[in-house]
Amino acid sequence: MAKTDRLDKGAVLQRDRETYAIVPHIAGGICTPEVLRKIADVAEKYGAKVIKATGAQRLAIVGLKEEDLDNVWKDLGMDPAAAVGMCVRSVKFCPGTTFCRLAQQDAVGMGLKLDEMYHGYSLPAKFKIGVSGCPNCCADSWVRDIGLIGTKKGWKVVVGGNSGSKPRIAHLLAEGLNDDEAIELVKKVIDKFKEYQKSQRIGKLINDIGIDRFKKEIGLSVAEQIAEKIDTSRINEKALYNIGYGLYIVGSVKDGNINAQIANTVFQVTAEPPTVAVSINKDNLTHEYIKESGVFSISILAQETPLHFIANFGFNSGRDKNKFESVEYRQGKTGAPIILENTIAFIEARVIEEMSVGTHTIFVGQVESADVLRAGTPMSYAYYHQVKRGTEPKTAPTFRKEEPKVATKGDLYQCQVCGYIYDPSEGDPDGGIEPGTPFEAIPDDWVCPVCGASKKDFKKIS
Ligand SMILES: Cc1cc2nc3c(=O)[nH]c(=O)nc-3n(C[C@H](O)[C@H](O)[C@H](O)COP(=O)(O)O)c2cc1C
Ligand code: SF4
Repeated sequence: MAKTDRLDKGAVLQRDRETYAIVPHIAGGICTPEVLRKIADVAEKYGAKVIKATGAQRLAIVGLKEEDLDNVWKDLGMDPAAAVGMCVRSVKFCPGTTFCRLAQQDAVGMGLKLDEMYHGYSLPAKFKIGVSGCPNCCADSWVRDIGLIGTKKGWKVVVGGNSGSKPRIAHLLAEGLNDDEAIELVKKVIDKFKEYQKSQRIGKLINDIGIDRFKKEIGLSVAEQIAEKIDTSRINEKALYNIGYGLYIVGSVKDGNINAQIANTVFQVTAEPPTVAVSINKDNLTHEYIKESGVFSISILAQETPLHFIANFGFNSGRDKNKFESVEYRQGKTGAPIILENTIAFIEARVIEEMSVGTHTIFVGQVESADVLRAGTPMSYAYYHQVKRGTEPKTAPTFRKEEPKVATKGDLYQCQVCGYIYDPSEGDPDGGIEPGTPFEAIPDDWVCPVCGASKKDFKKIS
């Protein structure tokens, strides 16, 4: 019978399909000469081929025979490391203030504590922690699911990073924390991640729900801080520097009711006085509101805005749905809504001119207030299409019929809500669907990567 991993014995089958490697747990790779000698002695006694230092700062004994595994562990008298499986695999930490002259925080003390709390802790997906004593980040904190970075003012905690086939840099959650505060925040992140029960890395979860929503769910609401910062009594011209060929939420108000939609056609018309223009489809509810009240707001979206957040405003009409039900916003001085989530700057304007252009009206507005809400890169229209693989509805002025796709492997299916086409040869790697997966084999709880519609909203087109 073909051999497989012997996870019950903490052993992984090697490339020769014959021998095994085991990894005893050594927290942070710090061990005494006695432990090192014991590992060397046991490796020698059982004829191991080599001892390999792993990326998680441990020592793998490689090339063991299956029948020796029990005795190897008995002789070692050590626990296996959580090298595989859905759990906290490793807590990697640097020498910190214990040994390194550049260190600003005690990475060893913190790393040992987190290792004791979480090593092997069961979670919906694999999870890695990195603790670095200073911004040099020798423990790779920015590419760990949770990273801690020591600074003179305390710990920085970052979340959602990973290396591997799809590298991702973590988001900053908080800084200037003392040891207890940092541990408390790590605990909140891990508890929240566990609650989701989805077998995807935490970075993917953040891609799906947005970092602002994730922060809110662990009690770090950015929206409140941003709402406090909003100053509608001035025109900060820097807000206008964020206009590109991007994606925006254009909002308005009518009889005290608010509405908003996605628009990609926003541009600055003059500098003195500052004026901006938007092109809005005459069928949209937002059009009706702008016509009536003569005011509109523009919230400039950040590059990392999740697709479902865009779909909420861009593939639904306020006539059918309250788009603000679970969105943080505040009404500005004109009464139009300023979106607080995923927004890097906002502008409010009062209509001074309008021009009918076929299906759309171009509203030109004089800016009444504008401000930058946070640092960040605005979402560009190109990024939305090329990286996010977003689409747009027929009401968008830039709507283009997709070039007819030709199926290379299996049938093509199209989302009836947003027009996205599922191509089995491409799969949906972000949604956990490998290239080559036929539509029929996708799990029922899979959703459209663009608008979040369910699998049953797809129709076969080839
Ligand atoms: C990427 C994208 C870009 C869009 N650009 C515009 C635009 O510039 N102008 C417009 O009127 N509609 C645009 N739309 C369509 C509207 O957002 C959409 O029709 C919305 O459902 C209208 O909502 P409402 O009826 O609540 O106003 C765009 C949608 C997407 C997804
Ligand atoms: S991260 Fe900083 S403290 Fe840690 S080993 Fe590197 S230089 Fe030293």
